[in-house]
Amino acid sequence: MRLMERLDSTVPLAARPYGLLSSRARRMNRDVYDTRLLLQKTTCMTGADAARVFYDPGLFVRAGAAPRRLSLTLFGENGVQSLDGERHRARKAMFMSLMAPDARDELRDIASRFWRERIREWEGRGQVVLYNGVSELLCQAVCAWTGVPVAERNVPAITSLLTALIDAPAAIGPRYLRGRAARRIADRWAAGHIRRARADSAAEAPAADGPDGGTAVDVIASYRDTDGRLLPPDVAGVELLNVLRPTVAVGRFVVFAALALHENPQWRHRLATEDDPELLEAFVQEVRRFYPFFPMVAARAARDFEWHGHHFPKGRRVLLDLQGTDHDPRLWERPDQFRPERFMGREPDAHSMIPQGGGDHYDGHRCAGEWITKDLMKVSVTALTRWMSYSVPPQDLRVHPWRAPAIPKSRFIVTQVTDTR
Ligand code: HEM
Repeated sequence: MRLMERLDSTVPLAARPYGLLSSRARRMNRDVYDTRLLLQKTTCMTGADAARVFYDPGLFVRAGAAPRRLSLTLFGENGVQSLDGERHRARKAMFMSLMAPDARDELRDIASRFWRERIREWEGRGQVVLYNGVSELLCQAVCAWTGVPVAERNVPAITSLLTALIDAPAAIGPRYLRGRAARRIADRWAAGHIRRARADSAAEAPAADGPDGGTAVDVIASYRDTDGRLLPPDVAGVELLNVLRPTVAVGRFVVFAALALHENPQWRHRLATEDDPELLEAFVQEVRRFYPFFPMVAARAARDFEWHGHHFPKGRRVLLDLQGTDHDPRLWERPDQFRPERFMGREPDAHSMIPQGGGDHYDGHRCAGEWITKDLMKVSVTALTRWMSYSVPPQDLRVHPWRAPAIPKSRFIVTQVTDTR
């Protein structure tokens, strides 16, 4: 038995969540290898070929795949992430119905409005922590978009609740415990909104545009599972949080975009002066590829099979290395350089560029919110380069490789904000 298979990797992986899987794979010159995690035999895979098989629903399932600490914080229980087969496809179709072009335009408009309000408000302040400010404005935008009423005075508290869920799963100690407490409160809060939407719709005449009309809360509240029943309020609440939580998390990518603009002033200049959608697209794509966010995703082998001479017994937990694939030198020239040019005139394929999962959005588990993530990043980069000017004072901008999810230590402080429109 190889040494890697005998030693438990839990501690090394916690110490180095980004890069450990791929560096081991490269050292062994293999895209697939076995190790132990939390004392369980686990198979790790990296690269585009690995992503292609990982997203084959005949070979991998999600039931029981996510470690418990993820469902107790980040995911919640019984949501779309844990489903397989027809039940997954139907639930996923509900999420994708929220991503229609008109709905995306609406979210973009709402987010632009909140950006403009914030810039005006920041003008009078000494300094602004961009991560906090952007997370709050995204929280306001997504709550308005989904039909969740939030009084302005409650925005900071709701934003903290949602960011605590994202911050917790890989943490040990107080950060993890904060995430567990936040999950209990958020689940109750979201289930309350589902109950309210159901009560409101029972009191109203049926909507002319059918059950798919209305806000995201209405769509989720009126969704019927494959058995024809409404989802229990707590499960529908988990699905509502599956829209709210990750939309607020886009704030992390916005902070990385601000970091990239700071470290690559030629890109700041181009984006501020050239009105070219292709440039903006390339920049946003490179931010998503380059900066660490979700290091990996988990599944279980649906049956016994062989791949690349490696045996996968039914039920084996398998990790797909997202971050390593996005930095794989076989797929990306000079992967550790920030070069948006690599995306000019190039549409990345569904298994090489996988910061939000790979494969198909409708049939598989690829992120339901990938398009709105890019939309919100584009609005935000436009705001940072065209709607405001600011200074970046000395601060600790290091991104520590042991902290998942990653974020610059100072969370990006800006001063002297001026509205430039
Ligand atoms: C799934 C990343 C934004 C909704 C996922 C997955 C990843 C991911 C890695 C798992 C893929 C897999 O299991 O194979 C991200 C990142 C985001 C982001 C880095 C940037 C902040 C969003 C947004 C939404 C969203 C804005 C809003 C709708 C979902 C849902 C799933 C998912 C519902 C589960 C899909 C399924 O299991 O079929 N995301 N996501 N995400 N994401 Fe995102």
